[in-house]
Amino acid sequence: MAIFPSRRNPKSRIARRCQDDSVTKLRLKYAPYYYTFDRQEGTQVWRDGKSYIMLSSNDYLGLGNHPKVIEAGKAAMEKWGASTTGARLANGSRSYHTELEEELADYIGKEACHIHAAGYLSCMSAVASFAERGDLIVVDKNVHSSLWSGIHLSGASAERFIHNNPDDLRDVLVHEDPDRAKLLLFEGVYSMEGHVARMPELMDVARENDMFSVMDDAHGFGVMGPGGRGTAAHFGLQSEVDVISGSFSKALSSTGGYVASSREMIDYLRTHSKQTIFSAAISPSQAACALASLRILKEEPEHLERLWHNTRRYKQMVESLGLDCWGSETPAMPIVLGSKERVYSFWKDLLAKGVFTVISVAPGVPPGKDLVRTAISARHTDDDLDKVGEALAYAARSL
Ligand SMILES: Cc1ncc(COP(=O)(O)O)c(C=O)c1O
Repeated sequence: MAIFPSRRNPKSRIARRCQDDSVTKLRLKYAPYYYTFDRQEGTQVWRDGKSYIMLSSNDYLGLGNHPKVIEAGKAAMEKWGASTTGARLANGSRSYHTELEEELADYIGKEACHIHAAGYLSCMSAVASFAERGDLIVVDKNVHSSLWSGIHLSGASAERFIHNNPDDLRDVLVHEDPDRAKLLLFEGVYSMEGHVARMPELMDVARENDMFSVMDDAHGFGVMGPGGRGTAAHFGLQSEVDVISGSFSKALSSTGGYVASSREMIDYLRTHSKQTIFSAAISPSQAACALASLRILKEEPEHLERLWHNTRRYKQMVESLGLDCWGSETPAMPIVLGSKERVYSFWKDLLAKGVFTVISVAPGVPPGKDLVRTAISARHTDDDLDKVGEALAYAARSL
């Protein structure tokens, strides 16, 4: 067996720091992360011959195995190959990119759109492209890591406001220079909490304070609003919010992401965003799967209906067991347990009963909000939900 020199005899301080890292040691000991399955079929996954119901995927509409999606992915690969191996700005732009951008922008209710190979890149550039040193970003304190990365890259300063609290946003702004350029940053649907942004009030504050607004709707698109057009459409505020970013790895069952805005803003992003200029274009099959899912969303409303039917049933099940789902209003449904010990024991009990969920503990969530994250899919059957109910009852009893 090969012995890696850096493990046997770390030479640098950095290598020693990595080797001694207590967080990594803890992660490896308890192993709830990077949990690898060897087979997957719809909502079922397998590991070492045992099957589990996947209760934490973001495949909200359950389109990952839809025949039209699979067919589109294969056809794109045959037509275009595996990758364009280049950035859009240089050699990597193809007509399948612009086709998806136009259909997606139109559905979201924006003039234009730019797509990236990951939602993380899109959400990061939705912030870093527009804010710059000297600006102020006022941000909901619970936003996703991709948005914090965008803030750091932008060089702008940041002030947090209390999660989903427009009054606190207003209070924060009272102390700020009215002439400073400001950006309001929030999510449409919060991925951990399942909360829907209080968008009408947030937009009022943005308007009163001449703020540019950016909303990450990774968990709202395909889920909220008429036809799943997203959180802005849910409130009829598509033209109020300046920029909407999101991901293809949730309701669109692919990988990649988008930034949608006015044509002028997207042209500006294409000039200034390092994540856009210096990163290879989304691959043909990823884009084709996202486009096929988008068309299914338009043509087959039953998936969205089934998602909400399942969500209502599941929420009632969780609440009837006295579990705390943090007031989630969406298919992203946390079960808040309050400490990492309780979370780990709950997660293990669910696993023993054949249900796979994901752990999120502080500092990933606010202190005292340690949780098991669950998410509902349109693909969950009544039988799946019955089994999930039994597993939850078992795990709740042993808390
Ligand atoms: C709110 C939010 N924004 C952005 C992303 C990044 O998307 P992706 O996984 O497609 O890179 C995620 C993914 O977890 C997310 O939850």
